[in-house]
Amino acid sequence: MTAAVKQHLIDPAVCIRCNTCEATCPVGAVTHDANNYVVDASKCQFCMDCVSPCPTGSINHFVEVAKPYSLADQYSWTELPPEDASTEAAAGVEAFDEDAAALLADAHKGSGGKVRRPPSASDPRINLFSRRNPAEATVTGNLRLTPEGASSDIRHIILDFGNTSFPVLEGQSIGIVIPGEGANGRPHALRLFSIASPRDGERPNTNNLSLTVKRVAEKKPDGTELRGVASNYVCDLKQGEKVKVVGPFGSTFLMPDDPEADIIMICTGTGSAPFRGFTERRRRSTPNAKGKLHLFFGARSPQELPYFGPLQKVPKTLLDQELVFSRLANKPKEYVQDRMRKRSADLGPLLKRATTHIYVCGLRGMEAGVEASFDEICQAYGLDWPQLRAAMRESGHYHVETY
Ligand code: A2P
Repeated sequence: MTAAVKQHLIDPAVCIRCNTCEATCPVGAVTHDANNYVVDASKCQFCMDCVSPCPTGSINHFVEVAKPYSLADQYSWTELPPEDASTEAAAGVEAFDEDAAALLADAHKGSGGKVRRPPSASDPRINLFSRRNPAEATVTGNLRLTPEGASSDIRHIILDFGNTSFPVLEGQSIGIVIPGEGANGRPHALRLFSIASPRDGERPNTNNLSLTVKRVAEKKPDGTELRGVASNYVCDLKQGEKVKVVGPFGSTFLMPDDPEADIIMICTGTGSAPFRGFTERRRRSTPNAKGKLHLFFGARSPQELPYFGPLQKVPKTLLDQELVFSRLANKPKEYVQDRMRKRSADLGPLLKRATTHIYVCGLRGMEAGVEASFDEICQAYGLDWPQLRAAMRESGHYHVETY
């Protein structure tokens, strides 16, 4: 059996033949004839230098093939050959940055072996900016979401891209380059952050995005930092400061565009970030969609729940929300999975619909409990959870991003 190889392709149906890619490629891998711009697989080193300057996104195709397409093949195309929806993820090209690829693969483990995107999701742009060639963003907001004195410091960070095109979709992540070096003398590893805003920005048609970041502070006995270098860097950013951004990343944990889709969103803490993006997208694009959003959101208390205030103002017709608290005085501990069981009369019928999507985001520890609740609900509604989950994974309806 031949091992599969990664290949970079240009979509002839979208390319406007502007020559930017050929002029940018440092190794002469991009060439053209009167018909098409093509990539020579024997020369391309996946440096990504051609990706962000491309005005159309036609350059942004990375596939896994048994045998690379030849230049003659590519010159003859009027469109790209058909590609399995899961190919990009299966090929490990959700992110070309090694740190980002490893982090994403780990975060999406719970989605099952072959991760697929929802069939109606928009086509994501990925890997536009690398550590070698990062985008520069300006910090235009750093708002503390949890009150002083709360046990966690969670922040809403806004990054503005100015004149740089940095297209994102709800559910994608970005990497932030942390300045300086670690104790080993090497640059700090890249850290990924989920985007908390919808594709058209914090306010419609602004070229910015937001992140929900929790300060992690773990010190070694000698007082030096053990974990949290990246989150402290981001949480301490001041308005006007510049940061280096890599990505965007992620081509599977994306929102269905289908207005009939019911979306069950289960999260803890900052795992709510992508669901803020999903909710704002629905609110702006299809507020009267037939499908509804159903949120199960766990936090220690209302003070520790990011966006508690704004959530109160989201119309019930758009978002059915269950805010679940684990550390309220005089109340037993409750987790999202406990509340799911209480809503089994609503979740059971939703699980029977082919248009329902499930997203789980946040602490890895919640996965087992959430699964157990789905199993119990399925049994009460004549469904087999392991079978249903397998089918939902296969069709891009079940997504997990945990850490
Ligand atoms: P707990 O009070 O037991 O820590 P954090 O604030 O640490 O980010 O956690 C967010 C929420 O997730 C908290 O309410 C926390 O409860 C809860 N949590 C912790 N472990 C689990 C788990 N295994 N399943 C579901 N929720 C969990």
